[in-house]
Amino acid sequence: MIITVDGPSGAGKGTLCQLLAKHTGFALLDSGALYRLTALAALRKGVDLSCEEQVANIALGLEIHFKPTEEGVQVWLAGQDVSRQIREEHIGMAASKVAALTPVRTALLIRQRAFAVDGQGLIADGRDMGTVVFKEAKVKLFLTASAQERARRRIAQLEQAKLQVDPEQILRDIQERDKRDTERKTSPLIPADDAILLDSTSMDINAVFEQALSAVQAQQAIVKA
Ligand code: DC
Repeated sequence: MIITVDGPSGAGKGTLCQLLAKHTGFALLDSGALYRLTALAALRKGVDLSCEEQVANIALGLEIHFKPTEEGVQVWLAGQDVSRQIREEHIGMAASKVAALTPVRTALLIRQRAFAVDGQGLIADGRDMGTVVFKEAKVKLFLTASAQERARRRIAQLEQAKLQVDPEQILRDIQERDKRDTERKTSPLIPADDAILLDSTSMDINAVFEQALSAVQAQQAIVKA
């Protein structure tokens, strides 16, 4: 059983997927982390992010490890815990750039599919989980929210972490990333034809989780019938 959860940055997919994984006991694939790790590894090696071939080679050779802990999943790159580093704003931007390169997406496809193990459920979080990577998934969710609301949440997170915030820049970054994610030629961010749409603009995470769970249960009942 695979449940795909796609949608733009900041819609709440990460939190929703963690709740769904906890509730179902399924494994979790954070595909965005793979693009973030590729970007970080490329930046560390001084590779030009627009050079498809070199970045794809980096994606193929990534030495990574996902380590579940009490607080969540730790992400390791070449023997180093980079869980915090890959969440930095500039790495998110760089990830969006490398994610637009077709050879990079191809290089990461096998790694992503390897998370689906026979007999074990999977929650797959990303942009093209339901349209490309796990096209055959029986339950597909597409979680979105307005750019303004996503910016507001991001600003609140940064303020809580006592980090410097430029609200207008945050909104511009979100809009720029949305544009790149939805307009790229390979695997653009669009809902699968059979996806259930959820809009979290005016819902808190508990309400989103309840709606997602009933959508999953309704879909499971259709599949079983
Ligand atoms: O979900 P995230 O913010 O961690 O993703 C980082 C970037 O990677 C984002 O700009 C979109 C891209 N991405 C993608 O193109 N395809 C995926 N399946 C996951 C993420």
